[in-house]
Amino acid sequence: MNLLRVTLHASHHPKNIKLYNKITTAHLHNQTSPSTLLYTETIPRYTKKPPQNRARIKGTVTTLQPNAIYLMDCIAGMRAMARQKMHADVIVTSPPYNIGKPYHTHNDNLPPSEYLDWMEQVAATCRTVMTDQGSFFLNIGSKPTDQWTPLELALRCKPYFTLQNVIHWVKSIAIPKADVGQYPHMQQDIAVGHYQPVNSTKFLSSCHEYIFHFTKTGDVPLYKHAVGVPYQDKSNIGRWKTATSDLRERGNTWFIPYETIQSARPHPTVFPDKLPEMCLRLHGLSRISLVLDPFMGSGSTAVACKRLRLKYIGFDIDPVYIAEAHRRLQRP
Ligand SMILES: C[S@@+](CC[C@H](N)C(=O)[O-])C[C@H]1O[C@@H](n2cnc3c(N)ncnc32)[C@H](O)[C@@H]1O
Repeated sequence: MNLLRVTLHASHHPKNIKLYNKITTAHLHNQTSPSTLLYTETIPRYTKKPPQNRARIKGTVTTLQPNAIYLMDCIAGMRAMARQKMHADVIVTSPPYNIGKPYHTHNDNLPPSEYLDWMEQVAATCRTVMTDQGSFFLNIGSKPTDQWTPLELALRCKPYFTLQNVIHWVKSIAIPKADVGQYPHMQQDIAVGHYQPVNSTKFLSSCHEYIFHFTKTGDVPLYKHAVGVPYQDKSNIGRWKTATSDLRERGNTWFIPYETIQSARPHPTVFPDKLPEMCLRLHGLSRISLVLDPFMGSGSTAVACKRLRLKYIGFDIDPVYIAEAHRRLQRP
């Protein structure tokens, strides 16, 4: 059953009210939606200049439910989760990178120290809602003129988490045939995947992003074979004690290309839903009761959870992205 309980105050930005009403109407008319929207919001008055910081939406959530995406600030949302003693086994998310992306609501050009302070607060709050044997997968990239931010952000997480793994999300890669040996399926050099080319003589285009895998203790066992790859050389099967089947560990470089889409993207920074799927499989599906994405955006994590039959909860401050997430979740 879909539940919808909303209190709106008359001082909202008209643009947001219009969008918001569109969503709630669409939601009420679709009782088969897999998501539930249940919140009471108080949104502060918009001034001429839109607020620059994350605290623009203050939500008072009465009851949070799984399989729902809430229109609210993620720190407020996670605090509500903590009050309800609702814990996630896996947190997988991609926050704004502070690289000037044109989000509708969020300002992605915060002063660097303000951004890092905010991210540290997010990480600290994530810790309070993650189970002791849980995993926190934090995906972040950078811009050519500032390659430090992801690393500084990882350092800000150090007081709260152990960095158990660093995974490189490879978006594009070139592999010369001469470098790979005699693989029968490889006929020629290949260059696969998509990336945004940088117009510069000094910077390389960024073909990878980080996925920092944080845990509370650093000793969370993983299901490495759940994201394993078949042996190229089959004679390896049975050679070692661990090589019992035609599956070896993938390692920490994950090639996950963006889907090719012709139309305009409804969200400026979507990650492929295969990315959260692989994180969830690596942690172990049987060990997951609830997945959290504090920056749900257009719902890629929820889509992966739906496919894997896992419960999720998410937050975002933008009604348009949440509407897109609902559209995606309604697809068969
Ligand atoms: C990198 S995007 C996430 C994209 C998402 N992984 C997807 O595939 O669609 C970051 C998202 O964080 C949202 N956001 C920004 N500030 C927020 C806040 N304080 N609380 C919750 N969400 C926020 C933005 O609206 C944006 O959708």
